[in-house]
Amino acid sequence: MWRITIILLLTLNIVKSEYKYTTNWFKVPLDHFGFQRSEEFQIKYLVNEEHWDKEGGPIFFYTGNEGQIELFAKHTGFMWDIAEEFKAKLVFAEHRYYGASMPFGNKSLDNEYIGYLTSAQALADYADLLDYLQDYQLVPKYPVIAFGGSYGGMLSAYFRMKYPHMVTGAIAASAPIHMFPGMVPCEAFHRIVTSSFNIAGDTCVQNIKTSWTALRNFSTTANSSEWLQKNWKLCDPVRNATEVQELIDFLRSMYETLAMVNYPFASDFLLPLPAEPVRVVCQYLNQTLKGQALLEGIGKMLQVFTNYDGKSKCVDYKKGSDYGNLDASGWDYQACTEMVMPMCTTGEHDMFEPVPWNFTSYSKECYDKFKVYPKEQLAKIEYGGDRIQAASNIVFSNGLMDPWAGGGILNSVSDTVQAVIIFNGAHHLDLMPANPLDPDTVKITRNSHKDNIKKWISEFRDAAK
Ligand SMILES: *[C@@H]1O[C@H](CO)[C@@H](O)[C@H](O)[C@H]1NC(C)=O
Ligand SMILES: *[C@@H]1O[C@H](CO)[C@@H](O)[C@H](O)[C@H]1NC(C)=O
Ligand SMILES: *[C@@H]1O[C@H](CO)[C@@H](O)[C@H](O)[C@H]1NC(C)=O
Ligand SMILES: *[C@@H]1O[C@H](CO)[C@@H](O)[C@H](O)[C@H]1NC(C)=O
Ligand SMILES: *[C@@H]1O[C@H](CO)[C@@H](O)[C@H](O)[C@H]1NC(C)=O
Repeated sequence: MWRITIILLLTLNIVKSEYKYTTNWFKVPLDHFGFQRSEEFQIKYLVNEEHWDKEGGPIFFYTGNEGQIELFAKHTGFMWDIAEEFKAKLVFAEHRYYGASMPFGNKSLDNEYIGYLTSAQALADYADLLDYLQDYQLVPKYPVIAFGGSYGGMLSAYFRMKYPHMVTGAIAASAPIHMFPGMVPCEAFHRIVTSSFNIAGDTCVQNIKTSWTALRNFSTTANSSEWLQKNWKLCDPVRNATEVQELIDFLRSMYETLAMVNYPFASDFLLPLPAEPVRVVCQYLNQTLKGQALLEGIGKMLQVFTNYDGKSKCVDYKKGSDYGNLDASGWDYQACTEMVMPMCTTGEHDMFEPVPWNFTSYSKECYDKFKVYPKEQLAKIEYGGDRIQAASNIVFSNGLMDPWAGGGILNSVSDTVQAVIIFNGAHHLDLMPANPLDPDTVKITRNSHKDNIKKWISEFRDAAK
């Protein structure tokens, strides 16, 4: 069964911790789309004006995604790197129901209170905040550029589409806006995971493919639980079929994550990892392995993934994909309402066991968990899906090594809705701070972002004349 969610959010700790900002709060209505509920609450936003030209310099606005805004502020180094050149003010807005932007305090994620967690409400929060940042003027003074990565990238694009009068242009990095029913094959994501592993070594994928049966077979033999727990340093034993499945789900999620953060430099994602982590783990599967030798190899991969810094005592495989220090638990609800992203594996063009996409069972799980049914077509109806020809001034950038590129815009839609490909890039590498190990492709992409931002800003100024 598919886990309800795959967390889109990725952060790196290769940060310059000296990024400075003020923390601010802004009051928003609980419900932007009706007048019945009059409650208000505060969302958090971070500001840096160090380089800002207050006479009309641009506002670079990060449309926060599923997590605490401080993390996105720290990890979107590209905005910090170019702020001085553009004399820009930096604003990072926190998405409602994440971080500290909770409408109902610690009860916010309970089923009775979670209902106002939608992307449309979040975009309306951002619009109100921008209106305030423009001093509520009829004619806005400052050009605004939206930035975002992953779900945040989807939001930056949607923000430009829905509020073009407020945002001059948007940089949408690794934004899987096509990862919705019927738009791309459900196996797209895992095909890319597989091809990233394939590049790292041709025996790697074959070994991983055989490892599933090997593990299932092995787990039925005597003492296998003890062996696995000791050899793989698991926190808990693997005693029955349910636990074998949990372990397999954990491994699948490990491969997904490794492919997403397959960056050219060492990083401290929710977990610390070496440079090119896929190549590093595939070293252990560099020849065709079988049986226990194969399982030993997989066990070594697990250690790199879970314990690269040597600080973790054991592998907590029962945690599923909820590792890390970010509370993105609201995302499960979003995935169960508006963000229905079909995922499947076939075992043919990917290295996983076949698991079909089944919307009926997915819906049922959502109902059991949240007492809501997902709207399968909502993203298409609300945001245009793959029919966004009417949009303008958006750049969609995708690294082809990023599994989410499977749902990204890889071909330019028009002169002003452009696709940029970073063929050797992982998940929104272009938004990260410049790094000496950056490939040329990402440098070129960042320069192209800057050219577009310049163009959008001058369009804004020309229109104001
Ligand atoms: C939730 O917040 C209330 C009020 O701030 C507090 O009294 C209570 O202990 C909190 N509950 C939990 C489970 O954190
Ligand atoms: C698993 O067990 C089956 C039946 O005992 C056997 O045919 C198969 O080769 C085994 N597969 C692996 C990968 O060990
Ligand atoms: C399983 O463990 C028991 C007790 O530790 C030991 O006596 C037995 O030989 C082991 N069996 C296998 C197949 O390793
Ligand atoms: C596989 O890697 C190990 C070190 O991790 C090395 O000792 C071994 O020679 C390599 N085997 C092949 C076939 O490259
Ligand atoms: C999908 O799941 C439902 C409910 O769990 C089940 O009845 C149905 O047979 C499944 N469909 C397929 C094609 O597997």
